Amino acid sequence: MRLAGAELLESREILPGQWLQTFHAPELVTGARAGQFVHVRTGDFSGMVLRRPFSYNTIDPATGTLSIHFRTVGRGTEWFTRLRPGDRVDMLGPLGRPFEMDSRTQHVLLVAGGLGIAGVRSLADEAIRDGRQVTLLFGGASAREVYPSSLLPDEVEYVVATDDGSVGHHGFVTELIPEYEGWADQAFACGPLPMLKVLASLAHSRRGRLGVANLGRKRGGGRPIPAGSPQARRKAFLQVSMEQNMGCAVGACLGCVVMNTAGTPQRVCREGPVFASDELDWEGGW
Ligand code: FES
Repeated sequence: MRLAGAELLESREILPGQWLQTFHAPELVTGARAGQFVHVRTGDFSGMVLRRPFSYNTIDPATGTLSIHFRTVGRGTEWFTRLRPGDRVDMLGPLGRPFEMDSRTQHVLLVAGGLGIAGVRSLADEAIRDGRQVTLLFGGASAREVYPSSLLPDEVEYVVATDDGSVGHHGFVTELIPEYEGWADQAFACGPLPMLKVLASLAHSRRGRLGVANLGRKRGGGRPIPAGSPQARRKAFLQVSMEQNMGCAVGACLGCVVMNTAGTPQRVCREGPVFASDELDWEGGW
């Protein structure tokens, strides 16, 4: 984890109320991985002291740049939209645990609900760089909220679902899963909790329904994989990036807790934000 002054290079509104900002911050790009996040201070003169967490939307080690994608929801995020190229912000990162991909995975399924695209976007770059095939299923309320395909690598197969049917599949993005779950070696998702719950349920029943094995599961013995470990995430069919509200983002305030299946609180900012879906208690009421 490093603290750095990040210089804004570009800022634009890519969808109504949704912004994409690119920063030059080599210290925060080195070693950063998809699924991690930065914690950004809004500026001393704003009078708003709480930092805001943003997923690494893209990470470019060649240029030392990263981008964040956010929706304006209040004074803090509106403050960011007033930044101009050359302005600097105080940024802390990389924070949290990243997605882990099994080395044998060839077919990567990404599932994003709305702004959840920011949580999985950089994984598309990582997977393509490593020679994998990527399909992204995106769900939004309407055509006005669909992530622009021009912001995705050409290699990504992009499939859209909208609640009102104004573009793509008419219905929830989770309704597209049966078409792709047999093709995918692993899946990675970020979005609203109801969407993640459906995905977790489908992933849980997948083996029985499709008669397929999870990658890396050996018959018989083998040492147990510790829950919460990178290996546990790497062997999971579905990994999820959780979007809890965060206060401190460094594990101190316990404001971001979810429960695992053993009943142990998990801080999304420290033990997450990425979890193997079968490690979480989806009925935990958090
Ligand atoms: S945000 Fe404070 S413990 Fe996670």
